[in-house]
Amino acid sequence: MNRRELLQLTGYTSTALLIDSLGVARADNYMRRDDFGDNFLWGVATSAHQIEGAYNSDGKSLNIWDTFSARRGKVKNRDDGKVACDFYHNYPEDLALVSDLGIPNFRFSTAWTRIIPEGVGVPNPKGLDFYKRIIDSCLEQGLTPWLTLYHWDLPQALQDRGGWSNRDIIGWFSDYTDVCTRAFGDRVKHWIVLNEPMAFIGLGYLAGIHAPGIRSLKKFLAATHYTTLAQAEGGRVIRANVPAADIGTTFSSSWVDPLTEEPRHLQAAEKADAFFNRLFIEPLLGLGYPIDRFPLIKKIERYIQPGDMKRAQFDFDFIGLQNYTREVVRHSLFPPAVWTRRVPPKRRSVAEDEVTDMGWEVHPEGIYHLLRQFAAYDGVKRLIVSENGAAFPDIVEAGRVHDGRRTSYIQRYLAQILRAKNEGVPVEGYFVWTLLDNFEWAEGYRPRFGIVYVDFKTQERIVKSSGRWYQQFLSGL
Ligand code: FCB
Repeated sequence: MNRRELLQLTGYTSTALLIDSLGVARADNYMRRDDFGDNFLWGVATSAHQIEGAYNSDGKSLNIWDTFSARRGKVKNRDDGKVACDFYHNYPEDLALVSDLGIPNFRFSTAWTRIIPEGVGVPNPKGLDFYKRIIDSCLEQGLTPWLTLYHWDLPQALQDRGGWSNRDIIGWFSDYTDVCTRAFGDRVKHWIVLNEPMAFIGLGYLAGIHAPGIRSLKKFLAATHYTTLAQAEGGRVIRANVPAADIGTTFSSSWVDPLTEEPRHLQAAEKADAFFNRLFIEPLLGLGYPIDRFPLIKKIERYIQPGDMKRAQFDFDFIGLQNYTREVVRHSLFPPAVWTRRVPPKRRSVAEDEVTDMGWEVHPEGIYHLLRQFAAYDGVKRLIVSENGAAFPDIVEAGRVHDGRRTSYIQRYLAQILRAKNEGVPVEGYFVWTLLDNFEWAEGYRPRFGIVYVDFKTQERIVKSSGRWYQQFLSGL
């Protein structure tokens, strides 16, 4: 395929224009893998509950998403993760596909319910074996495994005892981390402690729209503090058990803009920024909770015991930044949340083709600003974009899926990451979310985020044109 054809295939012209508009002089108008340097890490990210299925096989117990999905009205279309992509059985082919696509790094998460079905106590050898097989397959195929310890699938047995809002979670989580690091630490060197605490605590304990479906400011604040402590504790356990480990944790992020420059909207934007982007990283870095910007969380202090703010700190080797969209907010006199109100893209007359199937605005510049914002913290050494991607309504035509919008989304975000990198931001990796179309939490199976299409009736996989583009890009073309 020549360059002109590739440009057509990928809709690259818009990115080329974008790069030009950023003032980056280029001979050929074309971004290449080489531009990111030899050491830049390229990967694809997945999570256990969204792809594995086999929800009650080989000793796995129910997690909070199994039980939440069984409750009427919680997940669209009454979908659940019982079968998902059946990665539990299809992993050999799926990992072979990752390798065929030339993607060097594979991010996956372990399911606590497979490894310690009761949440605490005796590990389940069959659960451990499953992940040993995944790791071995990765290594055989030349893929580097990146293991996330917690991607939202808490054992229901622990939720019954309060889950993340029970201080005991710190011990439960360190024991689970201890089991995983002892079992896999000889072959896994890249560890991610938590996936997006703000998302699973905010949506799970305050908004109530994700498992476990709780709406309580008190429980949200307690869970925020205990999760913060568990995160640092997890880092310490990995450090103690895995020689030469590369240890990170990930944060969701949304660039926040005020609706207008009016002071009340500007103030609302600061609150929203504290809530979405600062709440979980700042205590980790020894900066405490951003209570000054966001007084609603002042009551978190009642859960803080002497010595906690020291224990909340850990010197992570990298921070995983995850970004999909931006938020535009306005002042509001009423709760919910933080006396700020999101103004959805529809109300801002954002063009339809700049809104994804999740209703999220495509806003590539946001990732540039966020990378700079996170890099500005003293304690942040390296940043890795550990998730980025988009859902669009894909259609299979003559056995193919042409998803030019997804390719263009990824390219435009990459262009902004490169822009940050060229300005000296220590961003050192990029993981596409995600390999396979999968169970998208409360949205069920409708939003398709994969670079590989999944027919959920037959479990057939079709590499989308975005997957082919990523393959070409990674091959150096
Ligand atoms: C992130 C989650 C991931 C997926 C994407 C779309 O917040 O980490 O599991 O749901 O959003």
